[in-house]
Amino acid sequence: MRLSAGVLLCALLSLAAGDEQRLPEEELVVVTVATRETDGFKRFFRSAKHFNYTVKVLGEGEKWKSGDHTSSPGGGQKVRLLKAAVEDMKDEKQILLFVESYDVVFASGPSELLKKFQQARHKVVFSSESLIWPDRHLEDKHPHVAEGNRFLGSGGFIGHLPNIKEMLADWTGEDTDSDQLFFTNIYIDPVKRKSINITLDSRCRLFQNLHGALDDVVLKFEDGRVRARNVLYDTLPVVIHGNGPTKLQINYLGNYIPNMWTFETGCTACHEDLRPLTALKSEYPLVLIAIFIQQPTPFVEVFFERLLRLQYPKNRLKLFIYNQVTEAHHEGQLSSFVKDHGSLYQDVKLVGPEEEMDQAASRNLGFDVCRKDEDCDYLFVLDIEVVLENEETLQILIEQNLPIVAPMITRVGRLWSNFWGALSAEGYYARSEDYVDIVQGRRVGVWSVPYLSSVYLVKAGLLRSELSTYELFTSSLLDPDMAYCHNVRGQGVFMYVTNMHTFGRILSTQNYQTSHLHNDLWQIFENPVDWQERYIHENYTRIMRDQLIETPCPDVYWFPILSDVGCNHIVEEMEHFGKWSGGATTDNRIQGGYENVPTIDIHMNQINFEKEWQKFLLEYIAPITEKMYPGYFTKCSTPLNFVVRYKPDEQPSLRPHHDASTFTLNIALNQVGPDYQGGGCRFLRYNCSVQAPRKGWTLLHPGRLTHYHEGLPTTGGVRYIAVSFVDP
Ligand SMILES: *[C@@H]1O[C@H](CO)[C@@H](O)[C@H](O)[C@H]1NC(C)=O
Ligand SMILES: *[C@@H]1O[C@H](CO)[C@@H](O)[C@H](O)[C@H]1NC(C)=O
Ligand SMILES: *[C@@H]1O[C@H](CO)[C@@H](O)[C@H](O)[C@H]1NC(C)=O
Ligand SMILES: *[C@@H]1O[C@H](CO)[C@@H](O)[C@H](O)[C@H]1NC(C)=O
Repeated sequence: MRLSAGVLLCALLSLAAGDEQRLPEEELVVVTVATRETDGFKRFFRSAKHFNYTVKVLGEGEKWKSGDHTSSPGGGQKVRLLKAAVEDMKDEKQILLFVESYDVVFASGPSELLKKFQQARHKVVFSSESLIWPDRHLEDKHPHVAEGNRFLGSGGFIGHLPNIKEMLADWTGEDTDSDQLFFTNIYIDPVKRKSINITLDSRCRLFQNLHGALDDVVLKFEDGRVRARNVLYDTLPVVIHGNGPTKLQINYLGNYIPNMWTFETGCTACHEDLRPLTALKSEYPLVLIAIFIQQPTPFVEVFFERLLRLQYPKNRLKLFIYNQVTEAHHEGQLSSFVKDHGSLYQDVKLVGPEEEMDQAASRNLGFDVCRKDEDCDYLFVLDIEVVLENEETLQILIEQNLPIVAPMITRVGRLWSNFWGALSAEGYYARSEDYVDIVQGRRVGVWSVPYLSSVYLVKAGLLRSELSTYELFTSSLLDPDMAYCHNVRGQGVFMYVTNMHTFGRILSTQNYQTSHLHNDLWQIFENPVDWQERYIHENYTRIMRDQLIETPCPDVYWFPILSDVGCNHIVEEMEHFGKWSGGATTDNRIQGGYENVPTIDIHMNQINFEKEWQKFLLEYIAPITEKMYPGYFTKCSTPLNFVVRYKPDEQPSLRPHHDASTFTLNIALNQVGPDYQGGGCRFLRYNCSVQAPRKGWTLLHPGRLTHYHEGLPTTGGVRYIAVSFVDP
């Protein structure tokens, strides 16, 4: 009883004492050294502003002497500037927080910081490190700590002005000397440590240095806010410093500063960098779209159709198109696009394979075209394999008002995307904690990332300042995109990716055959979504929902299946192959007597289209047959597939016959009227004809026994149908 009363009394006393002496927030000033306003500095400053810290920046405009400007200003120059600054400060009650800025973010505000400082019960508190540097030999001189890190980190400290003045008074070093060593020597000197009254924040209650501690820090999400938590000491540090080789990790944590970036909820007004450019609607910046064709790629025609639909005034767009592919068909597609639509754009520059440029060289050139063009406000990089479905993409990206920003695109059904969440120590891919959530859209926002590719917008001003080096993509070690991102990071420029809208996807360019006239027809396995969009009738997906299936004759179903382009490509592919056969030669291809009436035809297997056609039957026809003929299931595994040509002077019609199949598919590949006259199909048993077949629509009817039928004469022009006998 007595004991607990005593404890209670003690607690009350210390509470009262704490209240009495609470350090006033007005006395706190944050001091940092920044010779340049890098994106990292801006991030620091925004986070400080968010929490209402008062910040004093030293060294602005000063040339930074120690090391390259991509790392934080360090060394003696920092101490010199700080010493000069504190000598001018006269308010002895002032409390100084010194932090780095290029790789620091605040996770909480002044009151929590001051409370924790007070609880440390010392006049100066330094951040702590688990690793000792730069002089390992000093290890034994460091006092032991009860729990936590034993070594001092000079990147962050807080203290009362008089004590900090005392600590800096002895500085006489050079600008290139180590500040870390200077402060360490003070700390390990027992006399100085005591007189200045220095301690370390060993348990990371105030400062978290990420160097050597990445695994100890996790992000903790609560009520749409986030804190970094040190799980080793169970603390919530206030200042997060991405020092050492972990520098990049701070980008990742920086994504989660409360209200700095939008996440989970997705909002556009969260901070100044996300403020839309309202002027956009009246005054469109000039954008150079740089299109790179680096390998044979499917659906190039569709790419250009989408490009034309991009919502942006074409007279504010210039095109730079680099085509590295020698196969003739890309050149044909390109030149017909330029011929038909090039004049809509302010300018079109085409560079072909004859220039023999490699990937890096072509990208260096494309970037330089914008750099050298003083009218160029933005460069929009767009690789040919990108399927940009969102027509507003360019406007959305410009409105983000960021240095470099990519729309997130993914590969259908995969975790692949055009950004990396993190980097490995060697600078290669590493998966960040939140990567999957971002790719799958469970976290939505604008994210600072270390790598992006395929499609992104660059502010042209950067190309004339930080990124003015011509050879941004050139490297003897890294592939061009990695070299580029390495250089961008090296200049302290931030790259962002947004998943606040759906933008599109990327095609697979693997297994792309280029031996056909219409190679895209063969893409049903590799790029099924794009294949469907291109080749399946736009109303196919509605036929069940909206009951679009017609029944022109008993048990004969009629519905849209192939797009106009699909029909045309199949016909053109067959005519391109050209080996039409009929009569006696047909017998050679008869399997098990299925085809008992000879037609003028080409079989799908003659153009190596058998596997693809079977996949088409399985994906798009089997579900319909199973619906219309309940209880019947098909694997479409032994079908006979061919395209038939009817011509008045060749073979105009087909005499009545059974199709020795379980069911038959009969797709009209062209249109009565413009393409031919006559034609159609008559089912004799029912005295019922389907005349005026519709292009892209198919008939689906039972084969043997009931649906004895004939092909009605084509009286003019040429008629094409695609036929499949499916059995079973
Ligand atoms: C910062 O100050 C403003 C105005 O004084 C206040 O509205 C806001 O809540 C403060 N922000 C924080 C994070 O305390
Ligand atoms: C450091 O200062 C605190 C008061 O802030 C005091 O209680 C403590 O005794 C001092 N420590 C040393 C070693 O002087
Ligand atoms: C699809 O259906 C809509 C409305 O039913 C029609 O307007 C449109 O022409 C159809 N598309 C094609 C390609 O026939
Ligand atoms: C078949 O139908 C046509 C009209 O659709 C009709 O003129 C003819 O008499 C019918 N034939 C038989 C055998 O029912």
